[in-house]
Parts: sequence; C-alpha cells; structure tokens
Amino acid sequence: METCVLTVDPERPDPRALGEAARLLAAGELVAFPTETVYGLGADARNAAAVAGIFTAKGRPADNPLIVHVASAGELDRIGRDISPLAHTLAERFWPGPLSLVVAAAPGLAPAVTAGLSTVAVRAPDHPVALGLLRAFGGAVAAPSANRSGRPSPTRAVDVLADLDGRIAAVLDGGPARVGVESTVVDARGARLHVLREGGVTREMLVDAVGQTAVTPVTETGRAGDSGPVLSPGLRHQHYAPRGRVILVAPAEWPRALAEWSESAERVGALGRNLPAALPPLHHVERVSGDVPAYARQLFAALLDAERAGTDVLLVETVEETGIGRAVMDRLRRAAAGR
Ligand code: TXA
Ligand code: MG
Repeated sequence: METCVLTVDPERPDPRALGEAARLLAAGELVAFPTETVYGLGADARNAAAVAGIFTAKGRPADNPLIVHVASAGELDRIGRDISPLAHTLAERFWPGPLSLVVAAAPGLAPAVTAGLSTVAVRAPDHPVALGLLRAFGGAVAAPSANRSGRPSPTRAVDVLADLDGRIAAVLDGGPARVGVESTVVDARGARLHVLREGGVTREMLVDAVGQTAVTPVTETGRAGDSGPVLSPGLRHQHYAPRGRVILVAPAEWPRALAEWSESAERVGALGRNLPAALPPLHHVERVSGDVPAYARQLFAALLDAERAGTDVLLVETVEETGIGRAVMDRLRRAAAGR
C-alpha cells in the first residue's frame, strides 16, 4: 500500500484534504493526523476491521486499549455512560485539550478499542486539523500514537512515515506537534480521579480544577495501591525506546558524564538544555533551548534524530519533576529502561 501524504496548513486546513482523509476513515482505512500532543493513527472506532488494522500496523499488544477521539465535550455521553460529575467538570474545563478521561464504555464501539475492558478512554484534541478531520468524518476516531509499538511517539509527519510508511493509507502533515508529550490519562469514574499517565495537562492543573484530595497518582505497576485491579494496561508494556541506549544525566552531572563517555568506543550522543559550551568530540549533539515545555515539545523528535544519525548511546538531560516535567521524566525513564 502506498501511503498518501496530505500536507495541510495547521491553522486553516484545506477542507478538501480533510474530506479526503474523512472518506478514507469511512472506508475503513487508517489515517495518521496531527494533534496538539503527538500524531495519532486513526480508524473508525465503530469499525472492527479498521480498528484491528491499527493493532496490525503498529504491532500493538491486543491487551492495550485505544483512546477514542471526539470533536467536543458533548460527545462524551455517547462514547461513555454513567458519566460522573467529575468527568463532566474535567471535560468542560480541559477539552479540547491533552486530557483523556477513562469512563464506563457505552455499547457500539469495536470491542478491540477497549481491549475487552468495560471502560473507554475519551478525549477531544486541541488541534484544528484533528478537529476538522473529526467533524468531516462525523464520528468517533480511535487513535493511539502513530508509531510502531514500543517506539518514541511521533511529533512530525516524517516520524510517522519512518515507522508506518506503506502500512497506512494516509498521513495528514500539519507540521510539528505543540505539546510534544501525550495526553494525561485519568480514571474519572468515581468521586476521585486516578492519574494513570502523566501528560499535557499537569498534576498542578488537575489539582487546581478539582482540589488536592480528588487527585490520586497511580504507581508504576498501574495499580492505585499495592493491590487492587490494574487500572492502566498500557503501563505494562515497553515504551518510548529508540534503537540506541538512553542514559539519563542530571544537569549538574554533564561534565562528569561527558568526560566518562567521550572515552567510549561507541557512537555517543548528547541531548539537553544545559550542555557545556565546550564539548568533547561526540557522534551527535542535540542542544535544546528554552524552558521545560520547550524541552517536552522537542524531546521525541530529538530522540529520533539522534537514532537516525546512528547514535549507539544517547546521554539525555533530566528535568525537575514539576508541571510538564513529570510527563517528560516518565517518558525518559521508560526510554532509558527500554533496553
Ligand atoms: O496524546 C495522546 O493521548 C495521543 C494522541 C494521538 O491522542 N494518543 C496516545 O495513545 O498516546 P496511546 O495508545 O499511545 O496511549 C493510550 C494510553 C495507553 O497507555 C492505554 O493503556 C491507555 O491510554 N488507555 C486507553 N484506554 C484505557 C482504558 N480504558 N483504561 C485505562 N487506560 C487506557
Ligand atoms: Mg503510544
């Protein structure tokens, strides 16, 4: 299959391109599209064969459910049922935006979307191309990140093509993603919400919206406590790993780490915001300027560029775990544990 690239203006996407992409979705094809977080790989959420195609194209484990994308908060009640007041509050406050709400699933979705669970994750993406596509299609679109399973998420169309060219019908190229890490996933079925994955809506923003006592993090095991049911199946699987090794370096540790690794016979790269001005000879260097949100925006692209340059070992700078820094560190730890 030849993958068709539909290039669009991210702010004012051409309705003909959106119409073409929507027709492909309606025909059961897979279409990658930009969101504010990362690129998604979309399929008609009610078409079982199309949804099965997502799992095949990505090589995704069948027990890892997909996020259903909708155009507005009003659609939450059609994809989910028994929606809690808390979930309604969060949808009103943060949609469109990088927050996925896990709620009880309404009937009608392809069973593979929820991986057989009774719950479904739903979000409205904050991107003119994603919203335009959802409106043109007129239905719910199941979309995981548009990468091969276990790899860094794509924030550019070129990264989608590197993983999925020839395996999907089309990609809408709307330029680089603005947030750069995926949506925050919260279980919002009860009176308190469980944060299943850190992401674009920060813990501080959630606490500000619903109060400290209503926000509970979930441990590395994907459980709300030491026992209890697994709330987030995705946490069990390998994630975000480029082909080379990733080694985390605190900003103050750069001089020591660079001295140590520059002796290595491997092709060593460095990625960070606080790299010393004078560097030893390295195979690849990614200097990121700006604050932590800017780092989040550029992180996955920088990991993939270093990989493409043939880096064996990539030294990656850590950030403080506040705000979006929590999501950045979650991704970096998983990338570092990947091999
Ligand atoms: O920003 C994002 O969320 C991007 C864009 C494309 O929207 N999508 C994305 O999807 O990151 P994916 O499939 O890469 O990650 C979805 C996460 C997984 O960790 C999955 O396990 C979790 O959401 N998830 C989905 N449905 C769930 C459910 N019913 N219960 C618990 N976790 C769920
Ligand atoms: Mg993913």
